[in-house]
Amino acid sequence: MSEREPLDVLDAIHSTRAQRFLKPDPIPEDVLWEILDATVRGPTGGNNQGWAWVVVQDTETKQAIAKVYEKRLKSHYGYERVSDKDLGTARITRGGISEGQIGIDIRNRRGVVHLAEHLAEVPAIVIPVMMGAGTAEDTRRGGAGLGASIYGAVQNLMLAARAFNIGSVFTWSLDDFSGFNKLLGLPDDAYIMCMIPLGYLEQGRFSQARRRPLGDVVHWDRWGDQRQAPPSSS
Ligand SMILES: Cc1cc2nc3c(=O)[nH]c(=O)nc-3n(C[C@H](O)[C@H](O)[C@H](O)COP(=O)(O)O)c2cc1C
Repeated sequence: MSEREPLDVLDAIHSTRAQRFLKPDPIPEDVLWEILDATVRGPTGGNNQGWAWVVVQDTETKQAIAKVYEKRLKSHYGYERVSDKDLGTARITRGGISEGQIGIDIRNRRGVVHLAEHLAEVPAIVIPVMMGAGTAEDTRRGGAGLGASIYGAVQNLMLAARAFNIGSVFTWSLDDFSGFNKLLGLPDDAYIMCMIPLGYLEQGRFSQARRRPLGDVVHWDRWGDQRQAPPSSS
């Protein structure tokens, strides 16, 4: 069993953020099992657990996913590769649209492009799938209930990975027409909910995610009744 950090829950939460610079080094299978075992402790409506978790390690499959992902991500967000040399400082932008309007935090653009260009090299991509999502009459398996019954578990996955010093990032499969269902041999009615690349950190470190001040986003009893957050929570 591989070593994991003795992190308490809050330390894990406060040091888990999007990690997009990931080494190709393999993740031991026992570690993947432990991460997945923590993953499925997440909640589902009625405990129906209508999910499946596809762990992609095969190089050709990763390459096929990466090809679609890179193309779609770049065209969707309008990212352009500038040059290897300038990647760190260059503005990665879309003609006619100014910085800040593209949809992903400016600070993250370099990482987003890097991940898109290196997705095939990460050791594992976990793909959470909801079964029977398209036709389910039970609202807990369709519509808004879909996400509610899997994203808690996805967050467990990222926190458990953190405990093993493995970085992760929530990525979107972009749309239903990605062809990933066919590529992965999924049943027709399975719905891919996101993709989580996993890997040991190549760059960066585990640090606290920046967020809007708590005092701005928390309301007490009624909308608009806000309080100053204690200094320790900023
Ligand atoms: C619905 C959703 C879709 C996302 N899609 C992508 C994506 O396609 N590519 C990517 O690199 N990051 C993606 N992210 C990651 C976000 O950019 C990231 O969680 C956010 O910037 C906060 O990062 P931080 O925790 O490091 O502060 C996505 C996150 C969510 C919740």
